[in-house]
Amino acid sequence: MEITPEIADRLSKLNDKYVGMGQSLTNYLDGLLLSNYLTYWNYTHVDTLLSLQNPKTDFPDEVIFIIYHQITELQFKLALRELEQIGHNGRNVQPNGHDLGWKEKLDVKFFIERLQRVNRYFEALTHSFEIMGEGMEREQFLAFRMALLPASGFQSAQYRMIEICCTDFLQLVDKDERKDFAGKNSSIEEMYEHIYWKQGATEIASGKKTLTLEQFEKKYGEKFILLAEEYKDKNIWAKYKSLNEEDQKNPELIHELRQVDVNVNVNWPLVHYKTAVRYLHQDESAIAATGGTNWQKYLPPRFQKRIFYPELWSVEEKEEWGKGWVEKVVYKK
Ligand code: HEM
Repeated sequence: MEITPEIADRLSKLNDKYVGMGQSLTNYLDGLLLSNYLTYWNYTHVDTLLSLQNPKTDFPDEVIFIIYHQITELQFKLALRELEQIGHNGRNVQPNGHDLGWKEKLDVKFFIERLQRVNRYFEALTHSFEIMGEGMEREQFLAFRMALLPASGFQSAQYRMIEICCTDFLQLVDKDERKDFAGKNSSIEEMYEHIYWKQGATEIASGKKTLTLEQFEKKYGEKFILLAEEYKDKNIWAKYKSLNEEDQKNPELIHELRQVDVNVNVNWPLVHYKTAVRYLHQDESAIAATGGTNWQKYLPPRFQKRIFYPELWSVEEKEEWGKGWVEKVVYKK
């Protein structure tokens, strides 16, 4: 075989790479001779993925419910990866594949593009929620839902992690208590006790925390506090405020930030809430299928008034939060 200049060039680069790490190129070439070709099924772990649906009942629609939750968790993961990239200014991977760690400074174009990705994921989720809303028989849902108690989407940790990475922790404090903490430099632990979602998953009858909420806090409480500490100066709002004045005025950036606010805090919660109404409108069996929680009072975005970036909205827009206007805002570019 002829060693062409192209092959010699690659060999020389490979040699530099391995020698640079104190490794022997010949040993690695031997490994290459022996190793198998990569296949699609090994790379994507498709068999494992397709084995992860374990329904608790024989109702066929339960699998739709499981898979759609899994799809959502994967999209949440995509969103979280982008939020992490923004928080750390982006990864500095050289063209030769060498990873030099996080960058020192956040570039505004990178910031905008990564927010666009987060928005794209949430818009896809909002549009596809019909798979839940229209895609299952109500009778089947109400029946298999009983076999899932006390589990609930309420216990999605990634959903809460997205919120923590998106905003100043104060904005996640219950709206009626937020003013008590504003400007006081309160600790994350103090604010965590009053986080908005503690108002959810309580029993209408007794006003007590449900097991759903208790188990969720037990499993993730400490992790959320640690993440919030880490993201105090890395959350999206903190990163925005760390930009120079001119970059902070960038209209595209402001647009994407507002989109994130609307997508995460209004449009997804609205389609989700509408679906809950469709399946759970009040009758005995539907109430039982939630464990009898206060979801109707809790879930609507206009009641929760979660707003990540209050400085980017007018007083009127904030008052109208969660009502009709936001649907017009979302796809206007
Ligand atoms: C037929 C479909 C669905 C119905 C009827 C439904 C119903 C509900 C209800 C009633 C609650 C309130 C929890 C409570 O009070 O115990 C809730 C919360 C929640 N669900 Fe769903 N859900 C559905 C699908 C989904 C899907 C696909 C996800 C994706 C992960 C999800 C994620 C969540 C989250 C994150 C919360 C907490 C929301 C918040 O705290 O504001 N749900 N859901």
